[in-house]
Amino acid sequence: MNKDEKIYIAGHKGMVGGALCRRFQQDGFKNLIFRSSSELDLRNQQDVRDFFYYERPKYVLLAAAKVGGIMANIESPATFLYDNLMIQNNVINSAYEFGVKKLLFLGSSCIYPRLAPQPMKEESLLDGKLEPTNEGYAIAKIAGMKLCEMYNRQYDTDYISVMPCNLYGIGDNFDPKRSHVVPALIRKFHEAKKNGYSKVILWGTGNAKREFLFSDDLADACLYLMKTYSGNEFFNVGTGSDIKIANLAKLVSDIIGYEGEIVFDTSKPDGMPQKLMDVSKLTNQGWKFKTSLERGIEITYKWYLENYNN
Ligand SMILES: NC(=O)c1ccc[n+]([C@@H]2O[C@H](COP(=O)([O-])OP(=O)(O)OC[C@H]3O[C@@H](n4cnc5c(N)ncnc54)[C@H](OP(=O)(O)O)[C@@H]3O)[C@@H](O)[C@H]2O)c1
Repeated sequence: MNKDEKIYIAGHKGMVGGALCRRFQQDGFKNLIFRSSSELDLRNQQDVRDFFYYERPKYVLLAAAKVGGIMANIESPATFLYDNLMIQNNVINSAYEFGVKKLLFLGSSCIYPRLAPQPMKEESLLDGKLEPTNEGYAIAKIAGMKLCEMYNRQYDTDYISVMPCNLYGIGDNFDPKRSHVVPALIRKFHEAKKNGYSKVILWGTGNAKREFLFSDDLADACLYLMKTYSGNEFFNVGTGSDIKIANLAKLVSDIIGYEGEIVFDTSKPDGMPQKLMDVSKLTNQGWKFKTSLERGIEITYKWYLENYNN
C-alpha cells in the first residue's frame, strides 16, 4: 500500500474506526478521508455513490455499522438488520463501481451458531442456528462477508473480512442503553464507587464466558491483513482465551477500586454460554495480539475518566 494513496475509513468516529485512524496514521499513511453519519448517511445509496464518485478512494476500511449491546439488539432487531445491510451493500458495491483496490469488512464473532463447538473455527460458519438475541445483526454480518467473497469471485476484486471477538477500548460507548459489557462494567463500578453504593447488580449468572480484544490491537490486525493478505478466506481476530463474566467484573472493579458487593440478576439472559474464537488461522498468518486484558481496561478507564466522566 502506497502511503499517499487515499484511504476511506468508514465509521472513523466509532471505537474501531478511531483505532484504525490512529494505527494507519502511526504507520505513515497521510491521505485518510472520513465522513460522519451526519455528513454522509451510508444507508443512502445515491449519496454513497456520489461520495465515491468525487473522492475515488483507493482503499476502504468498513468500520461503520449499527452496533449495540444485548438490550439494543433485542429491542430493535429490524434496525440492526436493515441498517447494516444497507450500509455494507452501498459501500461494497460503490467500492466495486469506482475501482477501489482493496476493502476490509468488519464482521463479528456473532456470525457463528449459538452452539458452535468452542473455540469457534472459521469453518463453523452457517453450521447451525444463530443466537436469537442478535440474529438480525449476525445475519447482516454474514451477508457482508459473503458479499465480499462473491464480489471477489465474480468481479475479481480484493475484499477481505475479519471477525473480531468482543472489543473494548478508547472511544468505547458508555451509554448504559447501548454499551457492551466492558464499558458497561466500567461505568457501573465507577458510579458505584463515586456514589458510595454498597451493591452493584449485573445481568445474567456471571457464568457466561467471553473473549475480549483491545480495539487498538484489532486495528493493528486490520493493517497487517491489508498489507499481507488477499484471497477469499476470512479471519477470526481475538486473543484465543476467554474469561467468565464474574471474573471480568472482579477485574474491572479492582482496577476502578470499587469495594462493594457484586450481585448477579439471574432472571436476565446470559446470551451465548461461551464465545471463544479459534485464532490459529490468523496466528499462522503471522499476527498476534499485544495488549493484556488488564492493561487494556486500565487504558480504557483512563480514557473514560478524561473524556466521558462528565
Ligand atoms: N464493538 C465491538 O465489540 C465489536 C465487536 C466485533 C465487531 N465489531 C464491528 O466493528 C465495527 C465498528 O464497531 P464499533 O464498535 O467501532 O462501533 P461504534 O463505536 O458504534 O461506531 C460505529 C460507527 O458507524 C457509524 N455509522 C453508523 N451508522 C451509520 C450510517 N447510517 N452512516 C454512516 N455511518 C454510520 C457511526 O458514525 P457516527 O459516529 O458519525 O454517527 C459510528 O462512528 C462494526 O462493523 C462492528 O460490527 C465491533
